[in-house]
Amino acid sequence: MSYDFDRPVDRRGTGSIKWERMGAPGAAERGVIPLWVADMDLPSAAPILEALRARLEKDAFGYTEYGEELREAARSWYRRRFGWEVASGDIFYSPGIVPALGFLIDILTEPGDGVIVQRPVYHPFANMIEGHGRRLVDNALVEEDGRYRMDLDDLRAKAADPRNKLVILCSPHNPVGRVWAEEELRAFGRICLDAGLVVLSDEIHHDILRRGVAHRPLEALFPEERPRIVTMTAPSKTFNIAGLQLSNVVIRDPEIQKRWKELVHGRLGLELPNAFAVAAARAAWESGEAWLEELKAYLDGNFAYLAGFLEKRLPRARLSPAEGTYLAWVDFRAWGFRRGELAAFALEEARVCVNDGAIFGPQGEGFLRLNLACPRTALAEALERLAAALERRRAT
Ligand SMILES: Cc1ncc(COP(=O)(O)O)c(C=O)c1O
Repeated sequence: MSYDFDRPVDRRGTGSIKWERMGAPGAAERGVIPLWVADMDLPSAAPILEALRARLEKDAFGYTEYGEELREAARSWYRRRFGWEVASGDIFYSPGIVPALGFLIDILTEPGDGVIVQRPVYHPFANMIEGHGRRLVDNALVEEDGRYRMDLDDLRAKAADPRNKLVILCSPHNPVGRVWAEEELRAFGRICLDAGLVVLSDEIHHDILRRGVAHRPLEALFPEERPRIVTMTAPSKTFNIAGLQLSNVVIRDPEIQKRWKELVHGRLGLELPNAFAVAAARAAWESGEAWLEELKAYLDGNFAYLAGFLEKRLPRARLSPAEGTYLAWVDFRAWGFRRGELAAFALEEARVCVNDGAIFGPQGEGFLRLNLACPRTALAEALERLAAALERRRAT
């Protein structure tokens, strides 16, 4: 099977956040191109569509369990793709990873405790930490010529502070596009675990990798200490089924499992997945591999297109090396925009809706995050518009 990712998918009228909530009302009608929210404007995998149609044919949509077949499909995916062994009973359902972060912050920390993150990073981390009355502690990434690395000395100091209890790792990293190398993960994990922290490892982007890049699940590197690591993954990002709401939380420690059940199943009454999500996730993990490989090749092409375009038309902009995710992190600081102006400029002057880097932390000021999971024609048009608008406003 060969997928035509150049074929535009018309998402209008589906309630898509990406299309309906762009900047000002009516933006989609005015032809604004959305390169923001992290989902894809690309056709989904045929096995998923077939499974959903078959499920629809069953005519009844009652309460549905996260059953053994789905657990087996997830376990087999982890084993095949990452050599990672996960026991069926260690997989817990959550509608999403963001809510799971909220539950785990609740379970593992007290109000006022510090939670370490590595900014610039996916902004709901901050919302969840601060929304739960915990303190955000920033172990900021270090940028060197556009490439990011962890600041391990700073991490060691922050991990040693007994007021800090938890750390959230983003692996692969949104928005900077790093897929952490094994040595980096080992160094990171060693520091956090030696200091007694619990690590929440958000690995939702683990499947979206550039050619030749490998992802290592953090806990696979620390088999003895995995009870202190909670790993979150999902088919949502990989297979563009975020609207179906199914994620996996891998919890090894019996005490954390018990507290998850008390809070999430008991007090919140949140245990059963959506019937369509179950059908889609199983098809994705059992039969989605061929589609994923084609998707990755297409995304590689989009990244190459972006790199070539910037080199030719906007040489003062700098693309961070994108090892994973479908999100490009581009430095536009040479234009000297004031705080918060950059994405507004892109929307108003170029009719392109993108994420302003500043939402990911103060280090992101002057950067844009562009979502490249779209047909190349849409990307090309968006870049043309952006370049024309930036050329009108001369680089400083
Ligand atoms: C790092 C990261 N975590 C989580 C999510 C989404 O989580 P949820 O499963 O709640 O949709 C995203 C979406 O962009 C993400 O980039």
